[in-house]
Amino acid sequence: MIICAATGNAAKLREIRRILAPRGFEVKSQKDLGISLEPEENGSTFRENARIKAQAICLASGLPTLADDSGLSVDILNGEPGVYSARYAGTHGDDEANNKKLLENLKGLSEEQRRAKFVCALCFYLPGGAHMTVEGECAGHIIETARGGNGFGYDPLFVADRIGLAGGGEGPNTQGLTTSEMEDWQKDAISHRGKALAMLEEKLAAFLEENQPAAGGLPITGVEKTLAFERNHKDDGDKLKRSLR
Ligand code: IMP
Repeated sequence: MIICAATGNAAKLREIRRILAPRGFEVKSQKDLGISLEPEENGSTFRENARIKAQAICLASGLPTLADDSGLSVDILNGEPGVYSARYAGTHGDDEANNKKLLENLKGLSEEQRRAKFVCALCFYLPGGAHMTVEGECAGHIIETARGGNGFGYDPLFVADRIGLAGGGEGPNTQGLTTSEMEDWQKDAISHRGKALAMLEEKLAAFLEENQPAAGGLPITGVEKTLAFERNHKDDGDKLKRSLR
């Protein structure tokens, strides 16, 4: 299935493609489709923002569209940075400044007080308006000094409780690796995005089954009109045959 990913974030797009490609999805980015639209994310939850993005980009692309709204939620900061994760320090996408601000806000706190989780809401939106939203989480804590060269955003500061295992599945992150020190597959198996995409896949067949006309490009009214046209056409044919006899 060809879908559009409603994101301009190259790192997110890489993760979405990496996880969905082996499952048979061809993921076109907004850029691939020439859509520069950046819908205003003015929702108060990850779910709301994912829906806002998916709806706007689905309208623009005409393709089934997947939007990801994600971020970090720190317990002691009452869920901050939350939906403001990408612009915590003021400038959208300034990972370095965001990480610096986070460390300042957690200064002097113990590991237990630095508990946090990544959250990812995914909204899958079909032309016609049917949509579903799923959420994935990844629990861990924030360390004091950044480590690792993979990933993006808060990854160098986030030690997840779990890690993907070589034989498949997941286990405790006994080495205390940050998600930035993990291999891609080690992160994907336990990440908020990996979990949400797995849940989406689990529910997708039933969702598409229920909303088949829109997914196939023809809304129910469109199908009915086509059938009606064929019936009329046949009637006309019958009339014609009769008139020729
Ligand atoms: P969004 O583009 O509005 O959904 O903001 C997402 C922001 O949350 C990113 O800019 C990162 O700061 C943070 N974030 C989301 N997912 C991850 C992740 O997997 N690793 C690190 N940071 C993440």
